[in-house]
Amino acid sequence: MLRLREVASVSKVVLGGRMGRYSNPASVTARLEREVAEYLSADHALAVNSGTSALLAALVGVGIGPGDEVLVPAYTWVSTAAAPLLLGAVPVLVDVDETLTMDVADLERKITSRTRAIVPVHMLNLVADMDAVMAVAQRHGLKVVEDACQAFGVLYRGRRVGTIGHAGAFSFSHTKNISAGEGGMLVTSDAHVAARAQMFHDVGSYTRASWTPTSEPLFIGMNLKMSELPAAVLRPQLKTLERRLSRMRAHRAAMVAEFAQDESIRVSPHHDPENATGLTVVFDNAARAERFATARGVTRLIDTERHVFTNWESVRGKRTYDPRFDPYAGRTAPRDPVSPDRSPRTLDVLRRTCKISVRDDYPTPVIRVAARQMVRTLQSMPQRPADVAPEPRLAESVRS
Ligand SMILES: Cc1ncc(COP(=O)(O)O)c(C=O)c1O
Repeated sequence: MLRLREVASVSKVVLGGRMGRYSNPASVTARLEREVAEYLSADHALAVNSGTSALLAALVGVGIGPGDEVLVPAYTWVSTAAAPLLLGAVPVLVDVDETLTMDVADLERKITSRTRAIVPVHMLNLVADMDAVMAVAQRHGLKVVEDACQAFGVLYRGRRVGTIGHAGAFSFSHTKNISAGEGGMLVTSDAHVAARAQMFHDVGSYTRASWTPTSEPLFIGMNLKMSELPAAVLRPQLKTLERRLSRMRAHRAAMVAEFAQDESIRVSPHHDPENATGLTVVFDNAARAERFATARGVTRLIDTERHVFTNWESVRGKRTYDPRFDPYAGRTAPRDPVSPDRSPRTLDVLRRTCKISVRDDYPTPVIRVAARQMVRTLQSMPQRPADVAPEPRLAESVRS
């Protein structure tokens, strides 16, 4: 439900009658871009109509095109893998570890002579190990586009995710940290990336006065622009986000403290526990995770549809909008870089992990009681024979 401040902000735009950013000299979209750039400490922010559009424009911005390979995690929303394919590049899956983010050892194994970019994803407000990812990228001369669609405003070791790589993409669809139903934002501190993304998101047929100056010739693009209406909804939300995130951090810490009192519940490792807002718990075996999810009404990650690579029907079938457009044409091995048997460790982790909601809008004592009830549920779940033999676990290379 929209709050009063958001209703007032949208009403002002509607009553003014100028709902496209370039028809409004006092564009709220332009203001939102400036506010986002300042909040995240990025030089450039570009408002677009979805997170998928932000990913596309970011990949174009860093120069991804036909024949390139782009490394994406096997656990992410399908858009992360679809975006490179739409540009004629091929996504190559990287396993996630128990942090639910890219396993950097597997990332390095998947690099070939065709690899051009890495897309680490910060799923569920859980941060990827950006120091390690950037070190790999630097060693191999690769571009990094952060998919921070699910983690707007979240911190990784003092920096906001989305601003650490060469470009970052955010989504403002429903359930995101700030939301306008649909919407997205690209951020970068690289003027060349910003200029290319601006051209691509606005048909590229003419130059706007506000664009970043560039010597790059104009090229054809799409129309991915954000209208004034979502921008007006998002601006008031941006103002309260920091308070909400800090409450989420406090609530997560309260839950983790409750869980620490009982060894039957294990919090997933995290790459920056002090700043963490997202929370998942991981079990030694899938059956126990499934029984916990059913008992508590929480979600086991293997059951989250198109966030799991085995459910990316169009990507796995290599079906583009026209069979004549085949990014896989002329490739030697691996001919099937997204086949399920390439990422069995990801499936194992997703089967054993459950998501715990960290609500900022509930009182802290209620959050504590909810955590205690989860512990009690586990204590009352007898070990069954199927639960006893643990499945093979990942070696953990993360600080937790
Ligand atoms: C990780 C991730 N990447 C990309 C997207 C695509 O964003 P949108 O739905 O706004 O296009 C989403 C959306 O849920 C997402 O969760």
